[in-house]
Amino acid sequence: MKNQLLKDTIQQLFANHKGLLAMDESNGTCNKRFAAAGIPQTIEMRRKYRELIVTTPGLNESIGGAILYDETIRQQTKEGVQMADVLVKAGIIPGIKLDMGAKPMAGFPNEKVTEGLDGLRERLAEYKTMGARFAKWRAVITIGEGIPTTACIKANVHALVRYAALCQEAGIVPIVEPEVLMSGDHTIQRCYDVTEKVLKILFYQLYQFQIDLEGMILKPNMVIAGTESAYKNSIDEVAEATVNCLLASVPAAMPAIAFLSGGQSPEDAAAHLNAIHTKFKNRLPWIVTFSFARAIQQPALDIWKGQDANIEEAQKLLYKRAKLDTAARQGQYNAAMEEPGNAA
Ligand code: 13P
Repeated sequence: MKNQLLKDTIQQLFANHKGLLAMDESNGTCNKRFAAAGIPQTIEMRRKYRELIVTTPGLNESIGGAILYDETIRQQTKEGVQMADVLVKAGIIPGIKLDMGAKPMAGFPNEKVTEGLDGLRERLAEYKTMGARFAKWRAVITIGEGIPTTACIKANVHALVRYAALCQEAGIVPIVEPEVLMSGDHTIQRCYDVTEKVLKILFYQLYQFQIDLEGMILKPNMVIAGTESAYKNSIDEVAEATVNCLLASVPAAMPAIAFLSGGQSPEDAAAHLNAIHTKFKNRLPWIVTFSFARAIQQPALDIWKGQDANIEEAQKLLYKRAKLDTAARQGQYNAAMEEPGNAA
């Protein structure tokens, strides 16, 4: 039974309070982060970095699934083992990024629409043979003067929903990610309003296209003021706005919500997830967890610097961040755990 397969995968991904690790940066994004850290932007350095991540000892204590990029799922460790096989051996389910990136939307200045539907059924079949059991598609919605337009939201949602249908047909769990970007000087209320509108349009189209909500994962942004906003809300304010927005927009039939970090500091992302659980646990009908990239990886990347001598230290930091996030998922995180030596 296909739907049972999807439900089983979701349960396994999030068992024992685990979350997801997004390590699916496109080459462009990965190279940008490497450049900022002074690391050469080559295929071999990207391979080494991904090997560092997947071979981190104990990563499976907090990570139930890792999302890979096309280049990575085709790569091997220096021992000649496929990256996806290393994950499976560690008890981590491999996933795959399926979208082909957000491109400028014709006729709509400063807005983007995510591409990648052509040939997707065939790509799904191939990734399945490589071990992928879940997938991700990211749409980006920008807040600015006069944007997002309803046309941009609908175009992005349409692609997300058609992707989700193809995933479910293939027996692969779709992560549906409509990311309202943090960039901008908008208030938390504006983020709330835009996120609510996006989610309501999304769930209406998911209904129209007969997506089985019990067989998908939502990956939303938290509701938070823009990075250039003069005002920084408290941890509890962000948690409350996020929970209220999700309760207003997301059906309870959805099994799991796994947040992106979106450019928040690792500490803020963990503190927000923690407050969502400490303050609102009894109101949440879903599993509420993390699917962070930067908020898990960034400290490790900064320490690694592309040097073999730093691999062990980088892996320890990666392990620690994942541990802290799984503590946050249980409402057991506190700032003292950030001190060196105080892993969760
Ligand atoms: P961040 O946690 O860095 O926002 O990345 C999550 C992600 O997968 C974006 O698609």
